[in-house]
Amino acid sequence: MVDSSRKRLVIGNWKMHGDAAFNSELLAGLRAGIAGVQQCDLAVCVPFPYLYQVRSLLEGTGVSWGAQDVSPHEKGAYTGEVAAAMLADFACSWVLVGHSERRSGHGETDSLVAEKAAAALAAGIAPVVCVGETLQEHEAGQALEVVSRQLAPVLALGAEALAKLVIAYEPVWAIGTGLTATPEQAQEVHAHIRQQLEAAGAGQVRILYGGSVKGSNAASLFVMPDIDGALVGGASLAATEFLSIAAA
Ligand code: PGA
Repeated sequence: MVDSSRKRLVIGNWKMHGDAAFNSELLAGLRAGIAGVQQCDLAVCVPFPYLYQVRSLLEGTGVSWGAQDVSPHEKGAYTGEVAAAMLADFACSWVLVGHSERRSGHGETDSLVAEKAAAALAAGIAPVVCVGETLQEHEAGQALEVVSRQLAPVLALGAEALAKLVIAYEPVWAIGTGLTATPEQAQEVHAHIRQQLEAAGAGQVRILYGGSVKGSNAASLFVMPDIDGALVGGASLAATEFLSIAAA
């Protein structure tokens, strides 16, 4: 049975999309539709330059916001990086860490991802720790092993820290490809993550699924006992589609 003590969470990951005019229209759509999806927490993770805009358009609406990356450092000579305290200045509730596009494109290691999660927590921001196997690893039957390896340094942060974060399972082969994991495939990995969280004293952490989630497949995923919501890329760029996922 679905554990109703974990409120569902749907987070949009805009990636490197949007501009001031587009965002303003998209956010107006979310504001207009949020009343219909009170049973679930809704958030958007946006490019850094738009945090100010997103804050001013979403404050008080019930939709929360965050960023897509954060520096592991508190402050200093780190040109181009953004500190967690800066995100807190814009009232970010969330920050994605360890998205597969950062692991593969920017060489982010499992331990760096855990450092970023710790930096976010220290600033009062909930990290959304992304894990997931590549197509090659998937085909080699290594999904559970890979996810365990990625999670290990995060689990080492301890139960108190874990209770404040969110995990997102995003099989790399399903991201932006239209190939969603079947609900059963996703549930198998989510149950495995849940076991590890339980062993670390944090069984109530929300575990989101990500990878080509849309209005048409969200309900079949959300019915699974360990899928507590979604991290949504492409479909978060259209208000009606994104809201239909939250309504599911
Ligand atoms: P997608 O992206 O929904 O476009 O597959 C998900 C993600 O990368 O977070």
